[in-house]
Amino acid sequence: MKTVNVALLGFGTVGQGTFNLLQMNQDLIDHRLGFRLRVIKIYVRTPEKYKVTLPKGVSFVTDMDSILNDDSISIVVEVMGGVTFARECVEAALQAKKNVVTANKDLLAKEGPYLQDLATERGVDLRFEASVLGGIPIIRTLYDSLYGNRITELIGIMNGTTNFILTKMSEEGLSYSESLKQAQELGYAEADPTADVEGLDAARKLAILASISFNRRIFFDDVYVEGITTIDQTDIRYGQEFGYTIKLLGIAKETKKGLSLNVLPAFISTKHPLASVRGAYNALYVKGNGIDDAMFYGQGAGSLPTGSSVVSDIMEIARNVAHESTGMFKPFFYSEKNLYAPGKIESSYYMRLIVENSTGVLAKVASKLAEQRISVQSVLQRNEDENTATLAIVTAPCPRSYILNVIDSFNHLRSVRAVGSVIRIMPE
Ligand code: HSE
Repeated sequence: MKTVNVALLGFGTVGQGTFNLLQMNQDLIDHRLGFRLRVIKIYVRTPEKYKVTLPKGVSFVTDMDSILNDDSISIVVEVMGGVTFARECVEAALQAKKNVVTANKDLLAKEGPYLQDLATERGVDLRFEASVLGGIPIIRTLYDSLYGNRITELIGIMNGTTNFILTKMSEEGLSYSESLKQAQELGYAEADPTADVEGLDAARKLAILASISFNRRIFFDDVYVEGITTIDQTDIRYGQEFGYTIKLLGIAKETKKGLSLNVLPAFISTKHPLASVRGAYNALYVKGNGIDDAMFYGQGAGSLPTGSSVVSDIMEIARNVAHESTGMFKPFFYSEKNLYAPGKIESSYYMRLIVENSTGVLAKVASKLAEQRISVQSVLQRNEDENTATLAIVTAPCPRSYILNVIDSFNHLRSVRAVGSVIRIMPE
């Protein structure tokens, strides 16, 4: 029986999940493939760190060359994370005509198209199912099951940490910092949670998904990003009164004028399927001209769920190795980039103003909105004390630039004491 040999680079959470799943399901996987699939080497810097007994035939190695120069290894699996060293290893493996699986979104959002070109040039495969949304099989779905569709929009909850925080704030009334602390205690958020809460992690994932769905060379820097650190209980409560729930969304939308790419906290109707995605779960809502709407839901992180995606890539490549058909994949990226500035995208907005509680103030606010051609859909007024009131306003769809202009004019209006917040509202 033929054997396809694999090397892992890294043995952290994802590396161990991959290895454990391959071990747990070895017979099933061999049976399904019709040949043996075996991890034979695991590259780590310090093997002593790992208190595991590896099965016979598997060893830790501490030099990359023992993998790159091993002709029996066809597939190299990069599960180390980080950009600089991971890039060196992936590039060296592709140059050595090894097929590569990577789970590294940071690397792909920066160098993905270049690495894809290199794989094609070297006649090998590069796969990265686990780089986005952990255990949800979305990459292959986009480039395979849905490849006959013209995708028009992706809307995703792409970060479990922020979805956990916003769920806690919305359902239990916790503050942002209390919710973040719980996310850290449960191991969702890192000690330095910047990449999650500032939307950077979601923006990397959106860049990768949009590259495939819209066939363009999209990078992290192409995505407009806002995080969730300024989201306040007050806005969550007003949003609920208007029938909305708040989510950190990654949105890639094809418009007549170009592709718009945004990661930002937004209100969505509580009736929208994405509103029911709670806690650390992820989901992607896909609109295509064949499928209409479809939603993919599951665990966005974790050892075995992410390992499941890595294993699916290893199996796909192993089949290609067995059939001597690696490197046949046509690269995704062939269209002009043609991006559309976020400021021009039309949307409804929610605004919270803290105003002087006196006669005529509402009329002044309304006239500023009218000057900017912004139509109002709903207003809630709540008196805070004798002198101060809160106005929560929902506008009709308008360009973001109109909203920025009206905020500027509110800042010059004495009776508006502060603009508390401005949050985009997704159409139903
Ligand atoms: N930190 C990410 C999240 C998981 O919270 O979803 C890895 O991308």
